[in-house]
Amino acid sequence: MIRGDEGAIRSAVVLSSLGTWSEHPGPPGATARWALEQGATPEDWMFGPAAVSRAHQGQGLYRHLVEAVTAEARAADRRMVAFIDCRNQRSRAVHRALGLTEGDILEVGDQQLGMLRMA
Ligand SMILES: CC(C)(COP(=O)(O)OP(=O)(O)OC[C@H]1O[C@@H](n2cnc3c(N)ncnc32)[C@H](O)[C@@H]1OP(=O)(O)O)[C@@H](O)C(=O)NCCC(=O)NCCS
Repeated sequence: MIRGDEGAIRSAVVLSSLGTWSEHPGPPGATARWALEQGATPEDWMFGPAAVSRAHQGQGLYRHLVEAVTAEARAADRRMVAFIDCRNQRSRAVHRALGLTEGDILEVGDQQLGMLRMA
């Protein structure tokens, strides 16, 4: 979480263990099972959802958040994955700008999810 001087939250991400989601029927579950099939462990990390407050978007806060959490995952010797909804073109563009490209695409219901390996 990144807070401003006034104490308000400017940017935040939910981090969880993949094992939390392994039975879940929706996108987090599909992502966790995909990562586990790729050799991740239940203790490895799921990144997201994440958001930056509207007033502070476009100032590099998300880049800072992603870089800080990625460094933390590597220091803890954890892999980290995330999913993006392929309909969210802005999110795809932002992640591409950060050097993160979707590896596999999973179909979950009517959604297409891009799998991101972050650490
Ligand atoms: C997506 C979101 C997290 C980005 O946060 P942000 O703080 O505005 O992003 P940053 O300013 O750190 O930008 C990161 C990179 O993406 C690029 N970028 C930002 N908006 C972009 C856009 N609309 N199109 C293309 N690239 C864009 C930036 O140029 C930057 O790259 P650079 O450092 O090489 O210049 C923010 O807009 C948001 O909270 N959106 C609503 C929730 C959401 O969609 N979350 C993502 C899915 S979980």
